[in-house]
Amino acid sequence: MICRQQIRHGGFVETDNRLEIRTVASELAQATFAEDVRAGLSRTPKALPPRYFYDALGSTLFEAICLLSEYYLTRAEREILERHAADIIGLVGSPLEIVEFGSGSGEKTRLLFDAALDRQTSLRYLPVDISESALRASADAILDVYPALRISGFVSDYDGAIAAMRSLDRTGIRRLALFLGSNIGNLDEAAACGFLSGVRATLEPGDALLLGADLRKDEATLVDAYDDPLGVTAAFNLNLLGRINRELGGNFDLRSFSHVASWDAGEGCIRMHLASSADQFVRIDALDLEIHFSRGETIHTEDSRKYDLTSIDRLAAATGFERSRTWTDSRERFSSNLLVVRS
Ligand code: AVJ
Repeated sequence: MICRQQIRHGGFVETDNRLEIRTVASELAQATFAEDVRAGLSRTPKALPPRYFYDALGSTLFEAICLLSEYYLTRAEREILERHAADIIGLVGSPLEIVEFGSGSGEKTRLLFDAALDRQTSLRYLPVDISESALRASADAILDVYPALRISGFVSDYDGAIAAMRSLDRTGIRRLALFLGSNIGNLDEAAACGFLSGVRATLEPGDALLLGADLRKDEATLVDAYDDPLGVTAAFNLNLLGRINRELGGNFDLRSFSHVASWDAGEGCIRMHLASSADQFVRIDALDLEIHFSRGETIHTEDSRKYDLTSIDRLAAATGFERSRTWTDSRERFSSNLLVVRS
């Protein structure tokens, strides 16, 4: 039996025995997409926030990216978790619960479930994802495989989930928060500090955050990972315009925009853009807006920041954490960092 009840923050919660899903501020989300599109396409240079990649199609395209041989991040992080999940759980101590920001398919997280369930008989998992379809699909699949798991999920952006989580009962057990996949790469330094401080506020002494951060490396490897020859990343990027067409009545001609990925060595970050191949006007009915693009003009859609251990230490120190351990994959492409709450 599934029942729905109102909760604070304008959302609702659905519960059955092992699954509850809270939708945080869902009515606001639609207005925000529309308003963020208006603001982003009205400014110079044009830009759109990367969180809007993840509608149902975009989340599926991202899962496809993770299967590409050029996109080494997922495999490198999985290698680390395969090898070290037991150490990670052991260092935090059990019993614990697992919170995950940007959970997506939750595939890699299963390695941590396995390690935790070697040491405790049941486990609560609190995934947060902006995509309702991705959250539901992964929760259903996980509950099928793990009878000892209970899931309290949040369909939400990070800030909304952090706020909602602070009003949850703490169970008196340890909490391991996960921010995997180099999701941190999308945040600039100020946003990363804000986010990690927010996560820190949901934790207590003894708790920890496992932070997955892609490492700086040669330009060719990085650009290949974000501009694959099969064109999946291009489709992922262009889907943002497709989503505007679908949800906001836009008339973008996706064939007249192209995907561009470039490496900014100074900032240590991969930048993604969509470039207009023609001088053109685009209408967005729901916004009653007409936008001009000159030939070659770009929309900035994503930054993927690459880290080194010094910058991770700086971030940890600024947000109430301390880096206690770092593991890398065998080719040192990716890092998993255990940040413990500094007392
Ligand atoms: C999900 C933000 C970690 O930046 O590598 C993949 C998204 N963009 N290919 C990344 C992404 C293009 C990804 N993150």
